[in-house]
Amino acid sequence: MDLITTPPHLREQCRAWRKQGLSIALVPTMGFLHAGHMSLMDHARLRADRLVVSVFVNPTQFGPNEDLDRYPRDLPHDLALAEEHGADAVFAPEPGAMYHPDHATWVDVPEMGKRLCGASRPIHFRGVCTVVLKLLNLVQPDVAVFGEKDWQQLAILRRMARDLDLDAELVGRPIFREPDGLAMSSRNVYLTPEERAKAPAIHEGLELVQERLRAGERDAEALGLMFRSHLADKLPGARVDYASFAHPESLAPVARVTAQTLLAVAVFVGKVRLIDNKLLEA
Ligand code: PAF
Repeated sequence: MDLITTPPHLREQCRAWRKQGLSIALVPTMGFLHAGHMSLMDHARLRADRLVVSVFVNPTQFGPNEDLDRYPRDLPHDLALAEEHGADAVFAPEPGAMYHPDHATWVDVPEMGKRLCGASRPIHFRGVCTVVLKLLNLVQPDVAVFGEKDWQQLAILRRMARDLDLDAELVGRPIFREPDGLAMSSRNVYLTPEERAKAPAIHEGLELVQERLRAGERDAEALGLMFRSHLADKLPGARVDYASFAHPESLAPVARVTAQTLLAVAVFVGKVRLIDNKLLEA
């Protein structure tokens, strides 16, 4: 497995593979890889002849008061895991290699990007779209694989790919959960043992909403209140940033849940902001 640190070297390697007629899969990550990422790599491995995993904590998707500096990093561990899961190359550039000091071009899907997480992270999806488009341009993969925990991210990237006629197929893979239901996230390491023990309440809340929906409740506001009161009971002190019902593709708000609907939530557990979601079946 190669460790590649500069965009020209990545482009050159991928071009050489394509010239040999080999297909390429890309798994973009911010590193600190966990079992969720492993499942993405395992799937990507099956989809192409060569697998590139990018490990880049992308500064442009963090707001000024967010956790860029303390985002967990462990490149040696990431390299070992990527190799174990069949990566042919890990692309781990320094920020200076990805962005010129006078970088001035942004890709934005503003309508979808200001919904859900975008309300409290206004520049986040612009940074995500920009870096993912750069990675897609460098690698030109046949397929790029993303986790569905970041459902909004994937929906926005799919819209970008459609609108800009990108060639790569963007594939979403199901959320990978700890045995107690907590969605796997690199940020889970920030939780105190007490917070960690109670955090599965977020997933339980999503399941409860699904049950209530099955029992006949259709009103999104009532269902949202149910989620909030479950958290107030089981995860006291947590602050719900949002618990929103949305169309799974357009992310437009849904007031009555009468068709397949995304329930997306973001919850501050202490200082840690966790996201989760469920595709509700009406
Ligand atoms: O989901 C992530 O880890 C990041 O947002 C991504 C897609 C790697 C872009 O930096």
